Amino acid sequence: MHATQVTDGIFRLSADASDLLFEAIWPIPNGVSMNSYIVKGEKIAIIDGVCGWDGVPETLYAQFDEMKLDINDIDYVVVNHLEPDHSGWLETFKTMRSEFQIITSEKGKPLLEAFYGITENIRTVKTGDTVDLGGGRVLAFADIPNVHWPETMATFDTKSGTLFPCDAFGSFGALGDAPYDDQMSDEQLAFFENEAVRYYSNIVAAFCLPVQKALKIVDTLPVKIVAPGHGLVWRKNPKKIIDDYRRYASYSKGPCKDEVTVIWGSMYGNTELGVAPIVEAMEAEGVKVHVHNVPEAPLGDILASIWTSTGVVLAMPTYEYKMFPPVAAVLDELGKKKVLNRKAFRFGSYGWSGGAQKELEEIVTRHKMSWDFLEPVEFKGRPSASDLEVLKDRGRALAREVKAMVAAAPVIE
Ligand code: FEO
Repeated sequence: MHATQVTDGIFRLSADASDLLFEAIWPIPNGVSMNSYIVKGEKIAIIDGVCGWDGVPETLYAQFDEMKLDINDIDYVVVNHLEPDHSGWLETFKTMRSEFQIITSEKGKPLLEAFYGITENIRTVKTGDTVDLGGGRVLAFADIPNVHWPETMATFDTKSGTLFPCDAFGSFGALGDAPYDDQMSDEQLAFFENEAVRYYSNIVAAFCLPVQKALKIVDTLPVKIVAPGHGLVWRKNPKKIIDDYRRYASYSKGPCKDEVTVIWGSMYGNTELGVAPIVEAMEAEGVKVHVHNVPEAPLGDILASIWTSTGVVLAMPTYEYKMFPPVAAVLDELGKKKVLNRKAFRFGSYGWSGGAQKELEEIVTRHKMSWDFLEPVEFKGRPSASDLEVLKDRGRALAREVKAMVAAAPVIE
């Protein structure tokens, strides 16, 4: 990994990570980049950082050397967000450089002590505060709480119009040394758009209202470059990622795209018999269908597809008078992530008694998910031919309703 120039006086340092679970939960099959930025005026600031995993801060320090940047020349460390994937390197950094000032939000200060025992040389800032680096370079700050932790803030370089929003406008996907949107083909941009949806749905989804508040602040700024803590740096078309995030935030309440996510689990193959017929019926109506078999499917994959789906099909048998537990666990997590207002349908098998439907209704109600369900279909044991015909009818009806909802929705840019 090498340091690269973002624009005059601003440089990106980065480390890619893979083969780990992000937040110790989420698989990242295509890796993730952790971005840090050097901003040079007469004084020098470093904005955001990287995690403290073995070998990761060293990757960053090697890039200091490559830039011929003496670590003792760094005057300010701007900590936009204390989650350790961005701040974990402070422990080693402070052993190498003692005379620097940390700039963070008021809520960030106690977290510096809690995570790293740092109590000195901290300057707290709030929305509207600035730090003059000299040479015409002024950094301005804005609190953007809960994007993604309560202490999060954004930093804006007024000279170049570069926004450093930390987790906001981020995406998964390792980037190597080609991190800029102007270096990407259309195919690569499409790939990273999927990685942005995966990132948003896995990491930011529960905080859509704070994202929308942050967008209102961003809309007041003359942003020319978006330089997030993870993922692509947007300097050709920063509006794209800002507008994408506006859409992703709206997807919590839907409608989303004319897509349906099917989440199914089956103990002995009887519920499974209904999956292929309903998928084919929905695809025949022209909607895109994502299919996930649980418990095998990673929750991160399910979230990424349901986030863009207006419709949902849940298929599971009754298990000990309740829902088949892997599907119940997924539904509970969808509630926590605020996957709301979906058009939905549920079917499944039972043996001696039902019960799955009752637990489903309890979870959807408890999380205030407001899913609008078509009439469910339950069959005792194996589905009959007429059961399968009813499932196909429900699939067609769901697909048509999804398309109608998307067609009637206001366009969000
Ligand atoms: Fe990338 Fe909330 O940390």
